[in-house]
Amino acid sequence: MATQAKSDFAHDGAPGHGARHVAIIMDGNGRWAKKRFMPRIAGHRAGVEAVRKVARAARELGLECLTLYAFSSENWKRPAGEVADLMSLLRRFIESDLDEFHANGVRLRVIGNYRALDASLVDMIDGAVARTAGNSGPIVAIALNYGAQDELVRAAQAIALRVRAGEIDPAAISLEDVAAGLDTADLPPLDLLIRTSGEQRLSNFMLWQAAYAELYFTDTLWPDFDARALAKALDAFRLRDRRFGGL
Ligand code: IPE
Ligand code: IPE
Ligand code: MG
Repeated sequence: MATQAKSDFAHDGAPGHGARHVAIIMDGNGRWAKKRFMPRIAGHRAGVEAVRKVARAARELGLECLTLYAFSSENWKRPAGEVADLMSLLRRFIESDLDEFHANGVRLRVIGNYRALDASLVDMIDGAVARTAGNSGPIVAIALNYGAQDELVRAAQAIALRVRAGEIDPAAISLEDVAAGLDTADLPPLDLLIRTSGEQRLSNFMLWQAAYAELYFTDTLWPDFDARALAKALDAFRLRDRRFGGL
């Protein structure tokens, strides 16, 4: 059965682990810093280093898409100073790393309601996404001001507009219509969802997309997560028996 489920899912040139799309809830920066008697921002800085390492590793491991939860729609509840630090780290990350992503053929994408961010940051993101859009390598999708419930509400609003315009009949609204209205519409299906730092919850991340994703929780704090840790998660994924409700 396991082999059957796997081969149904395999695609041409699939690497041994069989995963196309991995998403990560990058959690534990604050605790990493606290353990070192450092301010939380030091943990976030170390977290950016981990993003660099893991994005490279994802490419080397042959993933088609890596989605990283960087800022949730609920993270606005944090002190303004920490929110500002996170936004400025993001800005500097795009400035410093966009050339490398582009040179490696990576397509940069953003999911979440990022348009609500500071206008100059929105411009910067749009520029980075546009610059890499024609590449043919893996997708690195950053979830920014992302909340799965907000994403579903926005999808519902878009569908409601189509209904009002007479384009579709409410009774004909399909699973595909909903999926097409999500920020992930043109990303591969989610295979593996990783959360670091020992918490075992989704914190409003990819609720729809995770319907049949494999979940992997590790106690490793995000700044300590690296290529080896990603390879280990993919090893665990390879051994999972995915059934999708069948036998
Ligand atoms: C994850 O680390 C980064 C973001 C949520 C932006 P945290 O900042 O949540 O770190 P902990 O959970 O407090 O350790
Ligand atoms: C989830 O982590 C969000 C990101 C990693 C960006 P949080 O640290 O915000 O989640 P909770 O508050 O512990 O659920
Ligand atoms: Mg956290």
